[in-house]
Amino acid sequence: MTPPLVVKVDRDVCVGNAMCVELAPHTFGLNDEGQAHVIGSDADPATLIHEAVANCPVGAITVERAE
Ligand code: F3S
Repeated sequence: MTPPLVVKVDRDVCVGNAMCVELAPHTFGLNDEGQAHVIGSDADPATLIHEAVANCPVGAITVERAE
C-alpha cells in the first residue's frame, strides 16, 4: 500500500493567499489569523495537493510520503 502523504504548512512563511484552500479544501483550512493549516491528511487526491504546493506563491507547503 502507498504510504500516506504528510502535508505541512510553515506558518512563518504563509501569507494567507488561500490558493491551497481553493484547490484542496479537504486538506487545508484557514485559521483565525487567516493562515493555512492542515485539516486532513490524504483527504484530497494527491494531484490536487501537489497543485496546491505548486500554486502557493510563497512556497509555504511541503509534502512528503510517510515512511
Ligand atoms: Fe498560505 Fe500558501 Fe495557502 S500562502 S494560505 S499556504 S496558498
